[in-house]
Amino acid sequence: MRMLLHFLKPYKLQTFAVLAALAVNLLGVLLVPTILANMINIGVSSRDFDYIVHQALFMLTAAVLSGAGAFVSNYFCADLATKVGRDIRNAVYEASLKFSGGDFERFGTGSMITRTLGDVNVIQQAITMTIQMMLPVPFAAVIGVALAWSIDEQMGMMLACFIIVVAIIAVVTVKKAAVIFQKLQRFIDRMNVRLRESITGARVIRAFGKEEAERKSLDEAFSAYADSAIKVNWLFATFDCSSFFIMNLAEVAVIWLGGNRVGAHAMQIASISACVEYAMLILFFLMMAQICALTLPRALVCLERCRQVIECPPSIADGPGTELTPAQDIVAHFGNASFRFADASEDTLHHINFFCRRGTTTAIIGPTGSGKSTIAKLLLRFHDVSDGAVEVCGTDVRDLTQRALRTRISYVPQKAWLFSGTIAENLRYGKPDATDEELWHALDVAQSGFVRELPDGLETCVAQGGTNFSGGQRQRLSIARALVKPADLYIFDDSFSALDFKTDAALRHALATEVAHAAVLIIAQRINTIVSADQIIVLKDGCIQGLGTHRELMRSCAAYQEIARSQLRAEELEELLGVDVELEADEVDAADAVNAADEVTVATEGGAAVAHADVHAAAAATDAPAAAPAEGGAPATEAPAVKGGE
Ligand SMILES: Nc1ncnc2c1ncn2[C@@H]1O[C@H](COP(=O)(O)OP(=O)(O)O)[C@@H](O)[C@H]1O
Ligand SMILES: [Mg+2]
Repeated sequence: MRMLLHFLKPYKLQTFAVLAALAVNLLGVLLVPTILANMINIGVSSRDFDYIVHQALFMLTAAVLSGAGAFVSNYFCADLATKVGRDIRNAVYEASLKFSGGDFERFGTGSMITRTLGDVNVIQQAITMTIQMMLPVPFAAVIGVALAWSIDEQMGMMLACFIIVVAIIAVVTVKKAAVIFQKLQRFIDRMNVRLRESITGARVIRAFGKEEAERKSLDEAFSAYADSAIKVNWLFATFDCSSFFIMNLAEVAVIWLGGNRVGAHAMQIASISACVEYAMLILFFLMMAQICALTLPRALVCLERCRQVIECPPSIADGPGTELTPAQDIVAHFGNASFRFADASEDTLHHINFFCRRGTTTAIIGPTGSGKSTIAKLLLRFHDVSDGAVEVCGTDVRDLTQRALRTRISYVPQKAWLFSGTIAENLRYGKPDATDEELWHALDVAQSGFVRELPDGLETCVAQGGTNFSGGQRQRLSIARALVKPADLYIFDDSFSALDFKTDAALRHALATEVAHAAVLIIAQRINTIVSADQIIVLKDGCIQGLGTHRELMRSCAAYQEIARSQLRAEELEELLGVDVELEADEVDAADAVNAADEVTVATEGGAAVAHADVHAAAAATDAPAAAPAEGGAPATEAPAVKGGE
């Protein structure tokens, strides 16, 4: 309620205008029966034509005023409700922009959509109905009874009794309906979630022939809603008929009492019709009010749901800083950072330590679920570390505004997402004033030559979510979008996985010069993508298993060797190393070979000398015909063939 007042505050004047117009309308409506009674009682019975004309003019004025009041109040009331609805929607949306990933998950996408659209609609309707149909009721009742009382005391008293009875029935019905309406809103959420899932996953459902199961599950959600809605309608129907019954009863009672009172000369004949009209008017108002009142509990639930979003303190708050020192050599730094998702029982990342330097490429490789994307999310501050610190350009990300932080980072998310519009609009997302040349350049670097072949080029339409492009095309477009944005740190989260090997290589080659001024963080699953990185982080179960160049890791990191062995054939490994080290199928890996050989010096920096030592060591230790695979043309080892992507 407090929140609603807050949203009504900017429209104080308009609210008062609506109420004033409503009062004029009400007064007009209530005056007409009394004027009519006077006309008949005084004018007709005494045949005073002037009096009749005089009263008729008075009645006309009242009717016109009442009509004007109704028009003004209706118009401004609808206007007010729509504006308040718009403001609440904006507030909900703005609040959601401040949400961290965790906050979003707490509400859920389906519920967020219901809250922004459906819930606000209910609130909007409730505002209109409350102002137009409920606020006038107490006034109508009091004035109506007072006017009836002024005609005849007994009549006024009887009318008051009827009003009290109907009011009691109304309160009871509203209380009952409130409970059901609260449930109803939750069912709408559920329908929304289920429907979204089944529409977006339609292809999977069809591919697995799960239409029947899906239909059943949706039917359950729809039925639960329908059952509750039917219960509410039962209540409505019961109330409706009892109210109509009471209205008719009131009419009969007024005429009966009126007849007696006229017979006793306590009342004039035309006053009966005035009293009947008052009874009907007030009871009708009451009935309308009750129908509105039935929707009020639902509106309150909706209001509460919007409040939850608007007043939800974002778990990630802006820091005070707005300035980053751009010239820093170390662009990003993880200092003993650990992280746990709010709903998880254990840490997803454990004591992560590494630097991303300007002009270098850092790669993260590891199995699915090892926490690679989470590292990117921490850098962008979609989540806050549970322990330790993440620094960008020498400042803790928590000390910066999120805006300042994110202007320095260009990010290609794991799931390539494009907005509906044109390609150019999508590419200009991070730099609105980018020229067409810049866009074409970024597209060329991102190997998006296909755009040149499109008849509309940069103005080609992008469907919602970019579904009119293939996965690989979407990925390349989102890489181009990231490249258009000037940044100190470029993050590519598994952005090369949907690209074929040749495009992947060409893209990395073009990228090398393109982002030489910045630090690059590449998250990958394929070893080919990252062999040339300046440093590679091997992540497993949220722990760094190894950190170094490809060469260093091949020698010292068992986890890395395992990945390499699972993805590469022996000759590819050789090619990558630039030497003819052989990986044996009998699990004698290069690292063991190195350890076994006496003459090997374990170096920390990769280099040709070390590589040579590797060759000798490998040859000595395994005693295998090192050149065999290359000569034979076919892999001599049993190592599994390349596995691309997830
Ligand atoms: N929003 C979330 N809530 C709870 N756990 C999550 C959430 N997102 C990811 N996880 C968990 O964190 C782990 C790492 O996820 P992620 O960083 O996406 O892995 P990767 O990118 O390496 O495949 C996974 O085990 C996943 O189950
Ligand atoms: Mg990932």
